[in-house]
Amino acid sequence: MKRILSGIQPTSKIHLGNYFGAIKQHIELQEQGECFYFVANYHALTSVNDPKTLRENTLDIALDYLALGLDPEKACLFRQSDVPEVTELTWLLSTVTGMGLLERAHSFKDKVAKGITPNVGLFTYPILMAADILIYQSDLVPVGSDQLQHIEMAQDIAGYFNNTYGYVFKRPEALLSPTPKVPGTDGQKMSKSYHNTIPVFAEDSALRKAVMSIVTDSLPLEAPKDPDCNTVYRLYELFASADEIAEMRNRFLSGGYGYGQAKRALLEKIDAYFAPARARRKELASNLDYVEQVLRQGAQKARHEAALTLKATRLACGLDT
Ligand code: ADP
Ligand code: TRP
Repeated sequence: MKRILSGIQPTSKIHLGNYFGAIKQHIELQEQGECFYFVANYHALTSVNDPKTLRENTLDIALDYLALGLDPEKACLFRQSDVPEVTELTWLLSTVTGMGLLERAHSFKDKVAKGITPNVGLFTYPILMAADILIYQSDLVPVGSDQLQHIEMAQDIAGYFNNTYGYVFKRPEALLSPTPKVPGTDGQKMSKSYHNTIPVFAEDSALRKAVMSIVTDSLPLEAPKDPDCNTVYRLYELFASADEIAEMRNRFLSGGYGYGQAKRALLEKIDAYFAPARARRKELASNLDYVEQVLRQGAQKARHEAALTLKATRLACGLDT
């Protein structure tokens, strides 16, 4: 059975990009492999410095996964920081990782280009991510396309270590979802850092506002419109049946169909699609003891696995005899 692992940072409310790019397939994969999913709160410390916010966001992500269908009997769900072994492995891996590898990281360069003053943790973020992946001897890492470079780095780092000290780490492979790049309300990749998200658990006026804010061109109602260059249509494709998608496509191509109408159709779909998860989430939110218990049990299992790999790593590099 394949071992599958992924993490998600508790840095904001989850959006359609997170769901269709990552979380949906995480949940589907619980039927097919031995899954480990964690809330990446160590990683989040590189950008969140408020303890209350970090604690709340961490619990929120756990609630989101459980509400969206993660079954703790099938998949192990835990907080990254409940397995502190991963930080020791990060150090060991950092001593075989060249500066050049990290200097090439797109996500680091993008953040610096945006003007943030980086901390050392942000620079070494990919080594912690490699440790996350390698400590569980993961076969597959399901993520959106923006994380591919980080997974290649984990492969490289595993290679450096194994070449230096002998085989310890399995080579992980990325697994892309069928929708690895969901567009945001402005047409670029949906991302919290672009402020263009539609949150999964938004409802009523907040959801309406997000959907209505999708940027469209200013073609008049009568004009035929190209569905493929149109964010409303591309998001509708995520929710509707093949027949419904074909119908909207034809309407756009024939003209006489406006973006306002399409947005209303999309809004209805999103609302209905997530209604059961919203209801489950409300129930879970009134039973936080249960959520805490799921996280603790998940950590226990994860920690056991992590300790085995850490022991082999310490032995390989001469710390233990
Ligand atoms: P954000 O870009 O909002 O900061 P994260 O980096 O926290 O999102 O991403 C969490 C997971 O969701 C990752 O696996 C990432 O690849 C995936 N993801 C994020 N945005 C998108 C998107 N627009 N399309 C597809 N997958 C995405
Ligand atoms: N960097 C990932 C993100 O921002 C989160 C993450 C941390 C992760 N560790 C991981 C994803 C290990 C997959 C595997 O989305």
